Amino acid sequence: MRSIRDVELKNKRVLMRVDFNVPMDENSIIIDDTRISAAIPTIEYILGQGASLILMSHLGRPNGKADAKYSLKEVALHLGGLLNKKVLMAGDCIGPEVQEMSRQLLSGEVLMLENVRFYPGEEKNDPEFSQQLALLGDIFVNDAFGTAHRAHSSTAGIAVYLPAYAGFLLENEVNMLRKVLEYPECPRMAILGGAKVKDKLGLIRNLLDKLDVLLVAGGIGSTFLAARGMKVGKSICEMDLLQECRNLLELADKKHKHILMPVDVVIANELSADATSMIVDIDAIPDDMMIVDIGPKTIKGFSMAISRAHTIIWNGPVGVYEYQQFAVGTEAIARALAASSAVTVVGGGDSAATVYKLGLEKEITHISTGGGATLEFLEGIELPGVKSCEI
Ligand code: 3PG
Repeated sequence: MRSIRDVELKNKRVLMRVDFNVPMDENSIIIDDTRISAAIPTIEYILGQGASLILMSHLGRPNGKADAKYSLKEVALHLGGLLNKKVLMAGDCIGPEVQEMSRQLLSGEVLMLENVRFYPGEEKNDPEFSQQLALLGDIFVNDAFGTAHRAHSSTAGIAVYLPAYAGFLLENEVNMLRKVLEYPECPRMAILGGAKVKDKLGLIRNLLDKLDVLLVAGGIGSTFLAARGMKVGKSICEMDLLQECRNLLELADKKHKHILMPVDVVIANELSADATSMIVDIDAIPDDMMIVDIGPKTIKGFSMAISRAHTIIWNGPVGVYEYQQFAVGTEAIARALAASSAVTVVGGGDSAATVYKLGLEKEITHISTGGGATLEFLEGIELPGVKSCEI
């Protein structure tokens, strides 16, 4: 990957893609600014080299139309606070006015463009839109790891028109994930939870070649339990994926890999803060109840397995962690990871949120800013945003 370290930046207009797609509340207050602060080292380096900086990002999914709800104005203000300098806000992301603003920018100044997804061309990777964006800079830097799995104009298409380099965040994320996949010390483990079962089956297939132990829980866990013939009541369970799960279990056996599943679980009658819940063994789930967390025996078993591993990737909560009473298992996993001396990587917003909530971030080797991007990378898919800095 070409790095920004490899290019002279002085007096250049650097057009940089960042992933400032941050969660906001209904009053546009930023709830978690991890993705903004993660880009600061690259931003400061570029400004320190005497360049001017034009930042582009998406926020949410505005469907190709300008929508004030998805404006990056608040993000620009927040970034200005973190950098302790004024960040200029453009009213658009392409067009003559923005071109003029980018030409007038002095070295050391920062301009934030408006949401690139206000144009349908962005997600279509439309060459005309890419060209319009490219007019704003002399070189393109991609530091948006969280969006690197999207082949869009601002992440990939633009590299046809400008020389492209990776920023520190993108570089660091890719290096860390590669390190985990190539780390030679066994046992290597992945913990997969969350509700999006379909998204993760390809990942499991790829990980079976690279890892030794796989812990599955959450929605994926219930689907695997059902594939093993267990009754999972009203739990999240993708019936159409049962055969694929069975195939993966067979494949794991053939490859002498271990897929560990919950042996006991917390079940509830409904998803609510005051739902009636109880702990049962995995063969005693009534038809009208659903799995909402892993049970104490499972926590003990999973924690023991984690303590033996030398490399661990964690993606997805193992329970309905949004409700504190069902967050016990997910928090226990975060603590077990923090206590482990293994190389630990946490990917995905929900698992990362738990680590931050418990103040354990310093105990984790790497917390990725990508959710989907991390999964696709680990699945072995070439990410368009990474490739753009390699061609
Ligand atoms: C994310 O939050 O995963 C990235 O910013 C990508 O967003 P998207 O899923 O809307 O493309």
